[in-house]
Amino acid sequence: MEITTIVGARPQFIKAAPVSSALAAAGLEESIIHTGQHYDFAMSELFFEQLGIPAPKQFLALGGGSHGEMTGAMLAAIEKQLMGSRPDAVLVYGDTNSTLAGGLAAAKLHIPVIHIEAGLRSFNRAMPEEINRVLTDHLSELLFCPSETAEHNLHAEGIREGIHVCGDVMAAATERAREALDDPGFAEAIGETLPELPAAFALMTLHRAENVDHPERLAAIFSAIGELARPVVLPLHPRTRGALERAGMPLPDNVVRLEPVGYFQMTALLSACELVLTDSGGLQKEAYWHGKRCVTLRDETEWVETVEAGWNAIVGAEPERILAACDLEPPTARPALYGDAGAPAKIAQITASALSA
Ligand code: UD1
Ligand code: UDP
Repeated sequence: MEITTIVGARPQFIKAAPVSSALAAAGLEESIIHTGQHYDFAMSELFFEQLGIPAPKQFLALGGGSHGEMTGAMLAAIEKQLMGSRPDAVLVYGDTNSTLAGGLAAAKLHIPVIHIEAGLRSFNRAMPEEINRVLTDHLSELLFCPSETAEHNLHAEGIREGIHVCGDVMAAATERAREALDDPGFAEAIGETLPELPAAFALMTLHRAENVDHPERLAAIFSAIGELARPVVLPLHPRTRGALERAGMPLPDNVVRLEPVGYFQMTALLSACELVLTDSGGLQKEAYWHGKRCVTLRDETEWVETVEAGWNAIVGAEPERILAACDLEPPTARPALYGDAGAPAKIAQITASALSA
Protein backbone atom coordinates (compact mmCIF):
# COMPACT_ATOMS: atom_id res chain seq x y z
CA MET A 1 0.00 0.00 0.00
CA GLU A 2 1.45 3.35 -0.97
CA ILE A 3 0.35 6.73 0.30
CA THR A 4 1.41 10.06 -1.13
CA THR A 5 1.40 12.85 1.43
CA ILE A 6 1.10 16.46 0.30
CA VAL A 7 2.63 19.09 2.57
CA GLY A 8 3.66 22.69 2.00
CA ALA A 9 3.35 24.88 5.09
CA ARG A 10 5.06 24.89 8.50
CA PRO A 11 2.23 23.41 10.58
CA GLN A 12 1.93 20.53 8.11
CA PHE A 13 5.57 19.54 8.60
CA ILE A 14 5.03 19.48 12.37
CA LYS A 15 1.92 17.30 12.00
CA ALA A 16 3.61 15.01 9.45
CA ALA A 17 6.52 14.18 11.78
CA PRO A 18 4.67 11.80 14.15
CA VAL A 19 2.24 10.60 11.45
CA SER A 20 5.01 9.57 9.03
CA SER A 21 6.61 7.39 11.72
CA ALA A 22 3.22 5.85 12.55
CA LEU A 23 2.50 5.07 8.89
CA ALA A 24 5.88 3.36 8.55
CA ALA A 25 5.25 1.38 11.76
CA ALA A 26 1.90 0.21 10.32
CA GLY A 27 3.69 -1.09 7.20
CA LEU A 28 2.45 1.65 4.86
CA GLU A 29 4.79 3.08 2.23
CA GLU A 30 4.77 6.86 2.14
CA SER A 31 6.21 9.31 -0.34
CA ILE A 32 6.03 13.03 0.33
CA ILE A 33 5.36 15.83 -2.15
CA HIS A 34 6.35 19.27 -0.82
CA THR A 35 4.52 22.00 -2.73
CA GLY A 36 7.04 24.66 -1.68
CA GLN A 37 4.30 26.93 -0.27
CA HIS A 38 6.73 27.66 2.58
CA TYR A 39 10.29 27.71 1.33
CA ASP A 40 12.59 29.69 3.67
CA PHE A 41 14.98 27.40 5.52
CA ALA A 42 13.47 28.41 8.90
CA MET A 43 9.90 27.80 7.65
CA SER A 44 10.57 24.46 5.98
CA GLU A 45 13.85 22.53 5.83
CA LEU A 46 14.61 23.20 9.49
CA PHE A 47 11.56 21.10 10.46
CA PHE A 48 12.53 18.19 8.19
CA GLU A 49 16.00 18.23 9.79
CA GLN A 50 14.89 18.68 13.40
CA LEU A 51 11.93 16.33 13.38
CA GLY A 52 13.37 13.57 11.20
CA ILE A 53 10.64 13.81 8.56
CA PRO A 54 11.41 11.67 5.48
CA ALA A 55 12.83 13.84 2.69
CA PRO A 56 10.22 14.79 0.07
CA LYS A 57 10.37 12.83 -3.19
CA GLN A 58 9.33 16.00 -5.04
CA PHE A 59 9.74 19.68 -4.18
CA LEU A 60 7.45 21.72 -6.44
CA ALA A 61 8.70 25.25 -5.56
CA LEU A 62 5.22 26.78 -5.90
CA GLY A 63 5.21 29.33 -3.05
CA GLY A 64 3.96 32.91 -3.44
CA GLY A 65 1.41 34.51 -5.74
CA SER A 66 -2.32 35.02 -5.30
CA HIS A 67 -4.52 32.25 -3.90
CA GLY A 68 -5.79 31.27 -7.34
CA GLU A 69 -2.33 31.28 -8.92
CA MET A 70 -0.78 29.29 -6.11
CA THR A 71 -3.58 26.74 -5.78
CA GLY A 72 -3.96 26.36 -9.55
CA ALA A 73 -0.24 25.84 -10.13
CA MET A 74 -0.15 23.27 -7.31
CA LEU A 75 -3.21 21.47 -8.68
CA ALA A 76 -1.61 21.06 -12.12
CA ALA A 77 1.77 20.01 -10.75
CA ILE A 78 0.39 17.54 -8.17
CA GLU A 79 -1.94 15.99 -10.75
CA LYS A 80 1.03 15.36 -13.03
CA GLN A 81 2.92 13.62 -10.22
CA LEU A 82 -0.08 11.50 -9.18
CA MET A 83 -0.82 10.44 -12.77
CA GLY A 84 2.69 9.01 -12.90
CA SER A 85 2.77 7.37 -9.49
CA ARG A 86 -0.90 6.33 -8.95
CA PRO A 87 -0.70 5.88 -5.15
CA ASP A 88 -3.41 3.99 -3.24
CA ALA A 89 -4.34 7.16 -1.34
CA VAL A 90 -3.36 10.80 -0.89
CA LEU A 91 -2.97 12.23 2.60
CA VAL A 92 -3.44 15.94 3.32
CA TYR A 93 -3.31 17.98 6.54
CA GLY A 94 -5.24 20.98 7.79
CA ASP A 95 -6.47 23.85 5.66
CA THR A 96 -3.83 25.50 3.52
CA ASN A 97 -3.79 26.03 -0.23
CA SER A 98 -1.51 22.95 -0.44
CA THR A 99 -4.25 20.92 1.32
CA LEU A 100 -6.93 21.91 -1.17
CA ALA A 101 -4.71 21.47 -4.22
CA GLY A 102 -3.59 18.01 -3.07
CA GLY A 103 -7.11 16.88 -2.21
CA LEU A 104 -8.62 18.15 -5.45
CA ALA A 105 -5.90 16.69 -7.67
CA ALA A 106 -6.36 13.27 -6.05
CA ALA A 107 -10.17 13.28 -6.04
CA LYS A 108 -10.28 14.13 -9.77
CA LEU A 109 -8.07 11.09 -10.42
CA HIS A 110 -10.35 8.91 -8.23
CA ILE A 111 -7.58 8.42 -5.70
CA PRO A 112 -9.01 8.27 -2.14
CA VAL A 113 -8.25 11.36 -0.05
CA ILE A 114 -7.36 11.12 3.63
CA HIS A 115 -7.82 14.37 5.57
CA ILE A 116 -6.12 14.81 8.94
CA GLU A 117 -7.66 17.63 11.00
CA ALA A 118 -11.05 17.23 9.32
CA GLY A 119 -14.22 18.99 10.46
CA LEU A 120 -12.75 22.17 11.93
CA ARG A 121 -14.82 25.26 11.23
CA SER A 122 -14.55 28.94 12.06
CA PHE A 123 -17.84 29.63 10.19
CA ASN A 124 -16.06 32.61 8.64
CA ARG A 125 -15.92 32.18 4.87
CA ALA A 126 -13.77 35.31 4.55
CA MET A 127 -10.85 33.16 5.76
CA PRO A 128 -9.06 31.36 2.93
CA GLU A 129 -8.54 28.45 5.32
CA GLU A 130 -12.30 27.98 5.81
CA ILE A 131 -12.83 27.53 2.07
CA ASN A 132 -9.90 25.11 1.92
CA ARG A 133 -11.12 22.95 4.79
CA VAL A 134 -14.78 22.78 3.77
CA LEU A 135 -13.90 21.75 0.22
CA THR A 136 -11.25 19.26 1.31
CA ASP A 137 -13.64 17.58 3.76
CA HIS A 138 -16.22 17.16 1.00
CA LEU A 139 -13.59 15.52 -1.24
CA SER A 140 -12.29 13.10 1.40
CA GLU A 141 -13.03 9.44 2.00
CA LEU A 142 -11.27 9.12 5.34
CA LEU A 143 -11.78 12.07 7.69
CA PHE A 144 -9.75 12.13 10.91
CA CYS A 145 -11.23 14.57 13.42
CA PRO A 146 -9.39 15.96 16.45
CA SER A 147 -12.60 16.43 18.48
CA GLU A 148 -16.29 15.57 18.77
CA THR A 149 -17.06 19.16 17.74
CA ALA A 150 -15.30 18.55 14.43
CA GLU A 151 -17.33 15.38 13.86
CA HIS A 152 -20.52 17.30 14.65
CA ASN A 153 -19.56 19.98 12.10
CA LEU A 154 -19.16 17.31 9.41
CA HIS A 155 -22.53 15.77 10.26
CA ALA A 156 -24.13 19.21 9.99
CA GLU A 157 -22.83 19.42 6.40
CA GLY A 158 -24.23 15.98 5.54
CA ILE A 159 -20.90 14.12 5.71
CA ARG A 160 -21.52 10.81 7.53
CA GLU A 161 -19.12 8.23 6.05
CA GLY A 162 -15.45 7.68 6.80
CA ILE A 163 -15.30 9.86 9.94
CA HIS A 164 -13.01 8.84 12.82
CA VAL A 165 -12.45 10.91 15.96
CA CYS A 166 -8.86 10.02 16.88
CA GLY A 167 -7.61 13.15 18.66
CA ASP A 168 -5.13 15.70 17.42
CA VAL A 169 -1.81 14.55 15.95
CA MET A 170 -0.15 17.71 17.31
CA ALA A 171 -0.46 16.25 20.82
CA ALA A 172 2.10 13.64 19.72
CA ALA A 173 4.36 16.33 18.24
CA THR A 174 4.19 18.27 21.52
CA GLU A 175 4.85 15.19 23.64
CA ARG A 176 7.85 14.14 21.53
CA ALA A 177 9.40 17.59 21.76
CA ARG A 178 8.83 17.85 25.50
CA GLU A 179 10.38 14.42 26.06
CA ALA A 180 13.42 15.41 23.99
CA LEU A 181 13.78 18.60 26.04
CA ASP A 182 13.61 16.59 29.29
CA ASP A 183 17.24 15.71 28.49
CA PRO A 184 19.16 18.57 30.17
CA GLY A 185 22.01 18.42 27.63
CA PHE A 186 19.62 18.72 24.70
CA ALA A 187 17.61 21.47 26.42
CA GLU A 188 20.83 23.40 27.01
CA ALA A 189 21.87 23.01 23.36
CA ILE A 190 18.49 24.30 22.20
CA GLY A 191 18.62 27.16 24.75
CA GLU A 192 21.99 28.22 23.30
CA THR A 193 20.37 28.78 19.90
CA LEU A 194 17.99 31.34 21.43
CA PRO A 195 18.90 34.79 22.76
CA GLU A 196 18.82 35.29 26.54
CA LEU A 197 15.14 35.37 27.43
CA PRO A 198 13.66 38.19 29.52
CA ALA A 199 11.83 37.35 32.76
CA ALA A 200 8.05 36.82 32.73
CA PHE A 201 7.71 37.23 28.99
CA ALA A 202 4.72 36.69 26.75
CA LEU A 203 5.22 34.58 23.61
CA MET A 204 3.56 35.99 20.51
CA THR A 205 3.02 34.86 16.91
CA LEU A 206 1.01 36.62 14.21
CA HIS A 207 0.46 35.73 10.58
CA ARG A 208 -3.25 35.49 9.67
CA ALA A 209 -4.21 37.36 6.51
CA GLU A 210 -7.15 38.91 8.38
CA ASN A 211 -4.67 40.70 10.72
CA VAL A 212 -1.54 41.10 8.67
CA ASP A 213 -3.11 42.29 5.43
CA HIS A 214 -5.03 45.09 7.20
CA PRO A 215 -2.65 47.83 8.38
CA GLU A 216 -5.24 49.25 10.80
CA ARG A 217 -5.67 45.86 12.53
CA LEU A 218 -1.91 45.33 12.58
CA ALA A 219 -1.42 48.80 14.13
CA ALA A 220 -4.15 48.20 16.73
CA ILE A 221 -2.61 44.88 17.78
CA PHE A 222 0.90 46.32 18.14
CA SER A 223 -0.38 49.41 19.98
CA ALA A 224 -1.80 47.04 22.62
CA ILE A 225 1.45 45.06 22.71
CA GLY A 226 3.37 48.28 23.33
CA GLU A 227 1.15 48.98 26.36
CA LEU A 228 1.82 45.60 27.97
CA ALA A 229 3.91 45.81 31.12
CA ARG A 230 5.96 42.78 30.11
CA PRO A 231 8.41 41.80 27.38
CA VAL A 232 6.99 40.02 24.35
CA VAL A 233 9.07 37.47 22.42
CA LEU A 234 7.96 37.38 18.79
CA PRO A 235 9.31 34.86 16.27
CA LEU A 236 8.27 36.83 13.23
CA HIS A 237 6.45 35.11 10.34
CA PRO A 238 7.73 36.26 6.92
CA ARG A 239 4.26 37.43 5.91
CA THR A 240 4.13 39.73 8.94
CA ARG A 241 7.71 40.90 8.45
CA GLY A 242 6.75 41.95 4.91
CA ALA A 243 3.58 43.72 6.05
CA LEU A 244 5.42 45.65 8.79
CA GLU A 245 8.10 46.72 6.32
CA ARG A 246 5.54 47.85 3.74
CA ALA A 247 3.62 49.84 6.36
CA GLY A 248 6.87 51.33 7.77
CA MET A 249 5.62 50.21 11.20
CA PRO A 250 8.31 49.78 13.87
CA LEU A 251 7.83 47.14 16.57
CA PRO A 252 7.23 48.44 20.12
CA ASP A 253 10.31 48.62 22.40
CA ASN A 254 9.14 45.76 24.62
CA VAL A 255 9.16 43.31 21.69
CA VAL A 256 12.10 40.92 21.33
CA ARG A 257 11.98 40.03 17.65
CA LEU A 258 13.28 36.62 16.54
CA GLU A 259 13.48 34.96 13.17
CA PRO A 260 11.01 32.02 12.87
CA VAL A 261 12.34 29.32 15.19
CA GLY A 262 12.50 25.52 15.05
CA TYR A 263 10.00 23.30 16.82
CA PHE A 264 12.27 22.46 19.77
CA GLN A 265 13.02 26.18 20.23
CA MET A 266 9.29 26.92 20.10
CA THR A 267 8.58 24.21 22.68
CA ALA A 268 11.28 25.70 24.95
CA LEU A 269 9.71 29.16 24.54
CA LEU A 270 6.26 27.75 25.33
CA SER A 271 7.61 26.14 28.52
CA ALA A 272 9.35 29.33 29.64
CA CYS A 273 6.69 31.94 28.82
CA GLU A 274 3.93 33.21 31.10
CA LEU A 275 1.32 33.89 28.45
CA VAL A 276 0.70 33.33 24.76
CA LEU A 277 -0.69 35.88 22.28
CA THR A 278 -1.41 34.49 18.85
CA ASP A 279 -3.62 34.16 15.80
CA SER A 280 -2.15 30.73 15.01
CA GLY A 281 -4.35 27.65 15.08
CA GLY A 282 -1.68 25.28 16.36
CA LEU A 283 -0.39 27.56 19.07
CA GLN A 284 -3.79 27.86 20.77
CA LYS A 285 -3.71 24.13 21.49
CA GLU A 286 -0.03 24.07 22.39
CA ALA A 287 -0.56 26.89 24.89
CA TYR A 288 -3.31 24.77 26.49
CA TRP A 289 -1.19 21.63 26.65
CA HIS A 290 1.65 23.64 28.20
CA GLY A 291 -0.72 25.15 30.78
CA LYS A 292 -0.31 28.72 29.49
CA ARG A 293 -3.17 31.15 29.06
CA CYS A 294 -3.81 32.11 25.45
CA VAL A 295 -5.04 35.45 24.13
CA THR A 296 -6.24 34.82 20.59
CA LEU A 297 -5.99 37.78 18.24
CA ARG A 298 -8.91 36.70 16.08
CA ASP A 299 -12.68 37.14 16.04
CA GLU A 300 -13.42 33.42 16.29
CA THR A 301 -11.64 30.11 16.75
CA GLU A 302 -11.98 26.55 15.53
CA TRP A 303 -10.57 25.33 18.87
CA VAL A 304 -13.67 26.21 20.89
CA GLU A 305 -12.92 23.69 23.65
CA THR A 306 -9.93 25.77 24.84
CA VAL A 307 -12.26 28.76 25.22
CA GLU A 308 -14.93 26.72 27.04
CA ALA A 309 -12.24 25.48 29.44
CA GLY A 310 -11.45 29.12 30.28
CA TRP A 311 -7.83 29.09 29.04
CA ASN A 312 -8.29 30.92 25.73
CA ALA A 313 -9.76 34.42 25.29
CA ILE A 314 -10.89 35.47 21.81
CA VAL A 315 -10.25 39.21 21.62
CA GLY A 316 -9.88 40.21 17.97
CA ALA A 317 -7.67 43.23 17.36
CA GLU A 318 -9.15 45.64 19.92
CA PRO A 319 -6.45 47.03 22.25
CA GLU A 320 -8.70 47.25 25.36
CA ARG A 321 -9.83 43.65 25.00
CA ILE A 322 -6.29 42.44 24.34
CA LEU A 323 -4.94 44.21 27.42
CA ALA A 324 -7.81 43.11 29.69
CA ALA A 325 -7.39 39.47 28.60
CA CYS A 326 -3.65 39.55 29.34
CA ASP A 327 -4.42 40.34 33.01
CA LEU A 328 -6.80 37.41 33.58
CA GLU A 329 -5.77 34.59 35.90
CA PRO A 330 -5.93 31.07 34.43
CA PRO A 331 -8.53 28.64 35.82
CA THR A 332 -7.35 25.91 38.18
CA ALA A 333 -8.76 22.99 36.17
CA ARG A 334 -7.31 21.96 32.81
CA PRO A 335 -9.22 18.94 31.50
CA ALA A 336 -7.56 16.77 28.84
CA LEU A 337 -8.45 18.02 25.35
CA TYR A 338 -7.91 16.65 21.83
CA GLY A 339 -6.77 13.17 22.90
CA ASP A 340 -3.24 12.04 23.56
CA ALA A 341 -0.07 11.11 21.75
CA GLY A 342 -1.79 7.98 20.39
CA ALA A 343 -3.60 9.74 17.52
CA PRO A 344 -0.98 9.04 14.78
CA ALA A 345 -0.94 5.28 15.57
CA LYS A 346 -4.76 5.11 15.54
CA ILE A 347 -4.86 6.98 12.22
CA ALA A 348 -2.24 4.68 10.69
CA GLN A 349 -4.09 1.53 11.80
CA ILE A 350 -7.46 2.73 10.51
CA THR A 351 -5.85 3.80 7.22
CA ALA A 352 -4.08 0.46 6.78
CA SER A 353 -7.28 -1.51 7.31
CA ALA A 354 -9.39 0.82 5.12
CA LEU A 355 -6.92 0.55 2.24
CA SER A 356 -6.63 -3.20 2.44
CA ALA A 357 -10.42 -3.74 2.63
C1 UD1 B 1 -0.24 29.82 5.24
C2 UD1 B 1 -1.65 29.23 5.27
C3 UD1 B 1 -2.22 29.41 6.66
C4 UD1 B 1 -1.30 28.81 7.71
C5 UD1 B 1 0.10 29.40 7.56
C6 UD1 B 1 1.04 28.72 8.51
C7 UD1 B 1 -3.02 29.40 3.22
C8 UD1 B 1 -4.10 30.15 2.53
N1 UD1 B 1 -2.54 29.96 4.35
O1 UD1 B 1 -0.34 31.20 5.49
O2 UD1 B 1 -3.46 28.71 6.73
O3 UD1 B 1 -1.80 29.11 8.98
O4 UD1 B 1 0.56 29.19 6.22
O5 UD1 B 1 2.19 29.47 8.75
O6 UD1 B 1 -2.63 28.37 2.74
N2 UD1 B 1 6.76 33.77 2.81
C9 UD1 B 1 8.11 33.83 2.77
N3 UD1 B 1 8.80 32.68 3.04
C10 UD1 B 1 8.20 31.50 3.32
C11 UD1 B 1 6.80 31.46 3.36
C12 UD1 B 1 6.09 32.60 3.11
O7 UD1 B 1 8.70 34.86 2.51
O8 UD1 B 1 8.91 30.49 3.56
C13 UD1 B 1 6.00 35.02 2.54
C14 UD1 B 1 5.74 35.24 1.05
O9 UD1 B 1 5.78 36.60 0.81
C15 UD1 B 1 4.34 34.75 0.88
C16 UD1 B 1 3.71 35.17 2.21
O10 UD1 B 1 4.73 34.97 3.16
O11 UD1 B 1 3.72 35.31 -0.24
C17 UD1 B 1 2.50 34.38 2.61
O12 UD1 B 1 2.75 32.98 2.53
P1 UD1 B 1 1.52 31.99 2.27
O13 UD1 B 1 2.01 30.58 2.33
O14 UD1 B 1 0.76 32.41 1.09
O15 UD1 B 1 0.56 32.27 3.50
P2 UD1 B 1 0.81 32.21 5.06
O16 UD1 B 1 0.42 33.52 5.63
O17 UD1 B 1 2.16 31.67 5.35
N1 UDP C 1 6.01 27.39 15.27
C1 UDP C 1 7.37 27.13 15.19
N2 UDP C 1 8.22 28.19 15.05
C2 UDP C 1 7.78 29.48 14.99
C3 UDP C 1 6.39 29.72 15.08
C4 UDP C 1 5.53 28.65 15.20
O1 UDP C 1 7.80 25.98 15.27
O2 UDP C 1 8.61 30.38 14.85
C5 UDP C 1 5.10 26.25 15.40
C6 UDP C 1 4.06 26.35 16.51
O3 UDP C 1 4.60 25.93 17.73
C7 UDP C 1 2.97 25.44 15.99
C8 UDP C 1 3.02 25.65 14.50
O4 UDP C 1 4.31 26.21 14.22
O5 UDP C 1 3.28 24.08 16.23
C9 UDP C 1 1.93 26.59 14.11
O6 UDP C 1 2.13 26.98 12.80
P1 UDP C 1 1.55 28.35 12.23
O7 UDP C 1 1.20 29.26 13.33
O8 UDP C 1 2.51 28.77 11.20
O9 UDP C 1 0.23 27.83 11.48
P2 UDP C 1 -1.25 27.52 11.95
O10 UDP C 1 -1.21 26.53 13.06
O11 UDP C 1 -1.89 28.81 12.34
O12 UDP C 1 -1.88 26.99 10.72
